[in-house]
Amino acid sequence: MATLKKLGILLSGRGSNFEAIADSVKAGRIPAEIAIVISNRADALGLESARKRGLNAKLIISKGRVREEHDAEVVSALKDAKVDLICLAGYMRLLSPEFVRAFPNKILNIHPSLLPAFPGLDAQKQALDYGVKVSGCTVHFVDEHLDHGCIILQKTVPVLDSDDEHALSARILEQEHIAYSEAVRMVVSGEIEIRDRRVVRLNVKGPA
Ligand code: GRF
Repeated sequence: MATLKKLGILLSGRGSNFEAIADSVKAGRIPAEIAIVISNRADALGLESARKRGLNAKLIISKGRVREEHDAEVVSALKDAKVDLICLAGYMRLLSPEFVRAFPNKILNIHPSLLPAFPGLDAQKQALDYGVKVSGCTVHFVDEHLDHGCIILQKTVPVLDSDDEHALSARILEQEHIAYSEAVRMVVSGEIEIRDRRVVRLNVKGPA
């Protein structure tokens, strides 16, 4: 049997996307293991949850540190854990170019909008304020620009007249949990390839 791919998860907060991935790994929906979970914040609920699950959970505090220095420590922890793929799961830090270059096409992120619309912070509020009728989430490879890398998959949700930021965020989050596991599975199973900016499914005849 082929050895399982190793995942590294980076988070800063609640950690619900991490939990969705961890549940999928446990249930065998993602053929991988979680080798390390790193938080840059001591108070991240996701860090606590990783510890409770018995995972290798590490705190590398970013506050008050130069980005490049902090990133170098995170990169070295990920390399020590021999990760094959890194999932940013609510990691509220911009990665330095050195970090991104250390793991080319091996870092994924999830963003709560249909990119390229509404990159950056408060994506759900941006969508509401703009007045779009459909929003959703995007799982993409991370490159050196914010919320910009090649798109692996997107899920859509309707924006209802009655929505506030909370209601829309909750509807999107439900889809995030499904989308992230699906995307991680596709990447670790080698089902996709990047052609220019397009991520395409391999060996898939007709519409996927
Ligand atoms: C999610 O909405 C994700 O799209 C964004 O940050 C939020 C993290 O939530 N990048 P959680 O910590 O995974 O619950």
